[in-house]
Amino acid sequence: MFSKEVYIRRRAELVRRLSAQMPEGKAGVVMFVGNAEAPQNYRGNDYKFRQESTFLYYWGIDEPGFAALLDLDSGAEVIYGDDVEIDDIIWMGPQPSVESKAAAVGVGKSAPAAEFDRAVAAARSLGRVVHFLPASRYYNVLRTASLTGCSPDSVRKVASVADGQVHASLELVNSVISMRLIKEECEIEEIDKACEIGWLMHTEARRNCKPGVCEQDIVGRMEGVTISKGWGVSFTTILSQHGETLHNHRHDGIITPGKLLLIDAGAESNTHYASDFTRTVPCGGKFTPKQRDIYDIVVACNDLAYELAKPGVTYRDVHLAVAARMLEGLKSLGLVRGEVRDMVAEGVAGMFMPHGLGHNMGIDVHDMEDLGEDLVGYDPDQKRSSQLGLGSLRMARRLRPGHVITDEPGIYFVPALIAKWKSEGHGKDFINYQKLEAEYLDFGGIRLEDDLLITADGCRRLGPHRLPIYADEVESVMSGE
Ligand code: GLY
Ligand code: MN
Repeated sequence: MFSKEVYIRRRAELVRRLSAQMPEGKAGVVMFVGNAEAPQNYRGNDYKFRQESTFLYYWGIDEPGFAALLDLDSGAEVIYGDDVEIDDIIWMGPQPSVESKAAAVGVGKSAPAAEFDRAVAAARSLGRVVHFLPASRYYNVLRTASLTGCSPDSVRKVASVADGQVHASLELVNSVISMRLIKEECEIEEIDKACEIGWLMHTEARRNCKPGVCEQDIVGRMEGVTISKGWGVSFTTILSQHGETLHNHRHDGIITPGKLLLIDAGAESNTHYASDFTRTVPCGGKFTPKQRDIYDIVVACNDLAYELAKPGVTYRDVHLAVAARMLEGLKSLGLVRGEVRDMVAEGVAGMFMPHGLGHNMGIDVHDMEDLGEDLVGYDPDQKRSSQLGLGSLRMARRLRPGHVITDEPGIYFVPALIAKWKSEGHGKDFINYQKLEAEYLDFGGIRLEDDLLITADGCRRLGPHRLPIYADEVESVMSGE
């Protein structure tokens, strides 16, 4: 948790930004529903608790069963939660009072959880606007639906409160996004810590990538690092010798020389800030010449994004510059032909990189995507593409100091996609299908990911050290491990 001044300042700024979009004296109230415990199977056996990220951002309390109300017109703030009783104390031990937890984040008023429902009902009965965020967890969807009297579907819909209907508030969503997108110094320190844990977990994984080892064994060792140093993983670890499957969560392969192991994994710091790194390493410790050719193109793309990412440039343009660099490299290997400019316009890069160059990162590894991918990742004057690859770009915005984004180019050979595009004649003037089918169907995939902070005049890679990335460097560290 940060100092209480951080939360006081954030809430005051939220009131300022949100009230500015509402009629004077009729701005309404904002309700925040924190996460509850979520059972894995039966009620006494819960998943490890993870607080709702926006609740954490404004109210700091990292425990289940809390809610809060912010009155935009009067400025009143109340945290709702229940003090423990003797049964709880027997199971959990004595706990600080709700009042003291509220005081720790600068809130002077607290009340029992049941009063939250009554306060929301009272605001609604007075015809006041009740702003709320689109809930992501199903329990919170149902809870928000019951509090607001609207359907679970409407709870997820985001629209302007000016239409008088009950749904999540676009004004609130935009205010929250505008604040959380630009990271404060104390947040950057936490992301640096998460990146250090990410570095440690990837180092552990690379050291254990030895012929004959089961992928699951490596996953267990690297995830152990995240629990011993921080809160745990920031998303389900991706680790596979089938890197062409973008989010491969199967870990039953045995490390086999000649293959490539793609490791995409990150950690949360104890305060829930994320890291997200990807490296692809040769399973026998040395790249084959064919692997190195493709690998070096991906490294060049990763470096290019780092060089180009700076204030004033859109990340969409960085994505497109990376696509051009990738196609130049693939052209030099005879996998595509023609003018790179034409290929970029046709979306040919999507065949090889069917995802975007990166996403925002913060308290969520894909920061705030629960609030709406386009609202988070696109400026109002930007429209999302329908092309494969570019259309999956989650962060397209014009970069500003304080943005934290990932730089994660990749080249993949997906047999089903190659077959589909070929049968549809897609990119037929540019793509050398004959070579792809003869030589690359069993290649797999390569992705290389770093986390970037946009600074006043450029960017910096987050974390105290960069994971080895250049092919010689990777082979050299692996030979000594
Ligand atoms: N590193 C996982 C993802 O960005 O989706
Ligand atoms: Mn990522």
